[in-house]
Amino acid sequence: MGRFEGKTAFITGGARGQGRSHALALAAEGADVAVLDICRQIPSVQHSMATPEDLVETEKLVRDLGQEFIGIQGDVRNKDEVDAAVAAVEERFGRIDLVCANAGIMATTGPPAQEIAAWHDSVDTMLSGVFYTLKAVIPGMIQRGEGGSIVITGSTSSMRGVAYKVDMLSPGQVGYGAAKHGVLAIMRNFAMALGQHRIRVNTVMPMGVNTKMVVNDFFAGVIADAPPGWMANAMQQGLVEPEDITNAVAFLLSEDARFVTGTALAVDSGQLLL
Ligand SMILES: NC(=O)c1ccc[n+]([C@@H]2O[C@H](COP(=O)([O-])OP(=O)(O)OC[C@H]3O[C@@H](n4cnc5c(N)ncnc54)[C@H](O)[C@@H]3O)[C@@H](O)[C@H]2O)c1
Repeated sequence: MGRFEGKTAFITGGARGQGRSHALALAAEGADVAVLDICRQIPSVQHSMATPEDLVETEKLVRDLGQEFIGIQGDVRNKDEVDAAVAAVEERFGRIDLVCANAGIMATTGPPAQEIAAWHDSVDTMLSGVFYTLKAVIPGMIQRGEGGSIVITGSTSSMRGVAYKVDMLSPGQVGYGAAKHGVLAIMRNFAMALGQHRIRVNTVMPMGVNTKMVVNDFFAGVIADAPPGWMANAMQQGLVEPEDITNAVAFLLSEDARFVTGTALAVDSGQLLL
């Protein structure tokens, strides 16, 4: 019997990448899955974002595992769209037990990163979007009285700066780091207030992960210009796979972590040690 039998998961940014990996792992252990993903391009982002076809593929893969799936195209920057998505999922599944607040963008490269829109898109997606997601799911969790588990996706950029030159002090780059630092404040406050309701809130902080967010020509240029050791870590590891992050997320979501809350778990091969 899987760890998530009878549970319902709500995952933002699950059309592809880490979010899809989380969806498949939770489904493989018995969860029904709902995904909210924008499935279109935000102009300040140079790397390609997910498409409607990506969301259809996630649906197919979840259904192949024998679980129910709801795919919703919507934008976590918009509180009304997040509220509507959560309402639709609760209407159809009757509950949300597990949450991955995972949607993200890397508006850190090229001329668009230097525009102020990149600051707003980054903070709106990865800070406000996380806040909207948590605010939307907790009333139902509290009302049902059966607890719940929420994992926010931070980054090693939740704990450190990465700008190695003045040009990197762009709205998109600094907005990324500000949002990823900021989610720790969201986590700590929600974890404190929700503990009495047996709702746990944690953060996973990945190092570089093998997804289209960083495996693209634009980010390759950032790496090529970087000083030696910019991505160094104690294990001398390059990118990790989405499944490496999923393993940590699934642990935090599961009863294996039933007394773990308010924790920021780095999956970073020791990057933050250096
Ligand atoms: N890939 C990395 O190296 C890395 C490292 C640390 C943290 N992260 C974080 O991991 C999370 C997942 O990223 P990934 O690596 O899977 O990249 P990805 O680009 O493959 O996936 C991100 C998903 O979020 C969706 N999304 C973006 N903005 C959205 C919005 N406003 N509303 C709804 N959906 C939106 C995208 O369409 C996409 O499907 C992000 O929060 C990212 O910041 C990634």
